[in-house]
Amino acid sequence: MSATESAPLIEAASACYRDSGRFAWYFARSKLAGDAVFTTILARGLLERCPRILDLGCGQGLLAAWLIGARAVHTGVAPGAWPNDWPAPPQLESYTGVEINPREAARARAAGAHFGHVRVTIVQGDVRHVEYVEADAIVILDVLHYLDRVSQDSVLAKARSALAPGGRLVLRVGDAAGGIGFTVSRIVDTAVALARRRRLIRLYCRPVREWLQVLARAGFSARIVDASRGTAFSNVLLTAQTA
Ligand SMILES: C[S@@+](CC[C@H](N)C(=O)[O-])C[C@H]1O[C@@H](n2cnc3c(N)ncnc32)[C@H](O)[C@@H]1O
Repeated sequence: MSATESAPLIEAASACYRDSGRFAWYFARSKLAGDAVFTTILARGLLERCPRILDLGCGQGLLAAWLIGARAVHTGVAPGAWPNDWPAPPQLESYTGVEINPREAARARAAGAHFGHVRVTIVQGDVRHVEYVEADAIVILDVLHYLDRVSQDSVLAKARSALAPGGRLVLRVGDAAGGIGFTVSRIVDTAVALARRRRLIRLYCRPVREWLQVLARAGFSARIVDASRGTAFSNVLLTAQTA
């Protein structure tokens, strides 16, 4: 999708951050424009027919803003802007985000006030300890490597129990076998964590083939949707259903 084509989507999705200060608004615009995961989720219909979404490690709630912006574009705020070959975006009924960082959670909550009829709950807490609501889709983007291996397994087991029948998991993880791209991703994640938490943190990474085994052990049948080959990073987007 070209920058011109994505402009109406980014405009619609970032509008809810206007009241939250320049940082939240600029961050939303640059992340939505620069991170292909958001476009892929829509173009591939990964959350199609998923009205109830649970977003673990939701940051400032960009996913919800993106889906709501997409719905607005699809239903006509920007006539003709919705790509013909994309499925309709999900019609969100409820969005629950869990986020450990209080500032991110506050920004997500403030954005949620602009989400119209969508029931928004932002839980400021740790994905290892909070209860999960039932959901049609659970999304975990770039979060699991902050948790130790035992916690990764238990978060996935909890996610499986919280999914409604036929529900799906959308997960992005780093691929520890991803060579230089993986090293770059780890340096960026460490630097971001250092800036936010003012301390070095340990990251827990696995090669993608091991992630597939972990998902199978947790009761999921998973497939790779997209691997960011050829970019500076080494992330893999997976989708999984209960096996
Ligand atoms: C790289 S950001 C991704 C944010 C969001 N998923 C996205 O794609 O825009 C990772 C997020 O996970 C959050 N996080 C890390 N560990 C967490 C935990 N144990 N419980 C809840 N959130 C956590 C961080 O605070 C951060 O906002």
